[in-house]
Amino acid sequence: MADLNLICGDALTELKKMPAASVDLIIADPPYNLGKDYGNGSDLRASEDYLRFTKDWLTEAKRVLSDTGTIYVFMGFRFIAYLYAIMEQDCGLHFRNWICWHYTQGIGKKRGFSPRHDDILMFTKSERYHFDLDAVRVPQKFYRSVNNMRGANPGDVWEFSHVHYCNDNRQAHPTQKPEGLIERLVLASSRPGQLVLDPFSGSGTTLRVCQQLGRAAMGIELNADYVAATQRRLAQPFTGFDSIDPRMKRIPNDLNDEAVRTAYLRNHETWFLANHGNAIDEFWKGVERKYGLKRKP
Ligand SMILES: C[S@@+](CC[C@H](N)C(=O)[O-])C[C@H]1O[C@@H](n2cnc3c(N)ncnc32)[C@H](O)[C@@H]1O
Repeated sequence: MADLNLICGDALTELKKMPAASVDLIIADPPYNLGKDYGNGSDLRASEDYLRFTKDWLTEAKRVLSDTGTIYVFMGFRFIAYLYAIMEQDCGLHFRNWICWHYTQGIGKKRGFSPRHDDILMFTKSERYHFDLDAVRVPQKFYRSVNNMRGANPGDVWEFSHVHYCNDNRQAHPTQKPEGLIERLVLASSRPGQLVLDPFSGSGTTLRVCQQLGRAAMGIELNADYVAATQRRLAQPFTGFDSIDPRMKRIPNDLNDEAVRTAYLRNHETWFLANHGNAIDEFWKGVERKYGLKRKP
C-alpha cells in the first residue's frame, strides 16, 4: 500500500518544514493567476506579488528536492515566460523539457486564437537524474522490423482531453488535471517506492496516480474542502485512469506476420494499457476492425 500524506495548509509554509533533499519528484500545478475560483482568492494577485510567490515556493521546492530529483511545473499562457526565467536564472535548476499539453477543447476567443494548451516545464536539480523512457513509450504507427515495437518516445506535445463533467472521476474542482498525463510524469521520473510531492494538490490527482503506481506521495492544499474531496477520491475503487493519450490505443498497421502479430497484441495491454483496464475493450474493437481478431478469454 502506497504511503500517502495530505496536508491542509500553505505550500510555502509547509515546504519550509520539510527536510532538504527529501523528495524524489515534484509535480507542481500552482494557481496560474488567471482568476480561477479556488475558494481562497489565491489566483488573482498583483503581478509582482505572484512572481515573488512563485520564486519563493520554487526556492523551497529546489531545497527539498533530492540531488537527482526532477520537478515539473504546469503553467498557463500569462506567466509561462516568467516561470522559465525564475526556474533557470533565479533558482539555478537545469532545463530538460518544455512540454505542451494540448487539451483539445476550451473557452472561445473572438479577437485572437482560442487557447488550447498549457505548458509543463521539466527541470532537474543536477545533471544526474532518473528518466525511464521504456515506462512511457507510445505504440508505433506501423510494424517495421527496424522499428522498436516496444514503442516510440512520446515527444513533447501531448494530447489529453480535460476530465469532462460526464466522466465518472470528475471532481468538484475547476482545474482538475487528467490522471493519464500525471501518470506519464510519475512513470518517467520516479521509481516505485520513491516520494512524489505535489505542493498544490487540488482535487488530489497526483496522490491518486501515485497510490495506483506504488509511489509514496505528499500533497499540500490550502482549501479544506479539496482536501476532504481528495480523501474521498483515494478511497474509491480503481478501474483505470480517467484519461489516456489517444495514441496508447493505436494498433500498428502492417502487423501481417501471424507470429509477430500474436506476440505484439499480447504485449500491448501490459506495455501501454497496464493502468487503463477501462480502455481495453475499445482497443480490441479496433483490433477486430483492422485484423478481424477477437480478444482471447
Ligand atoms: C491548479 S490547481 C491544482 C489542481 C490539481 N493539479 C488537480 O488535478 O486537481 C491549484 C490548487 O492550488 C491551491 N492553492 C492555491 N494557493 C495555495 C497555496 N499557497 N498553498 C497550497 N495550495 C494552494 C488551490 O486551492 C488549488 O486547488
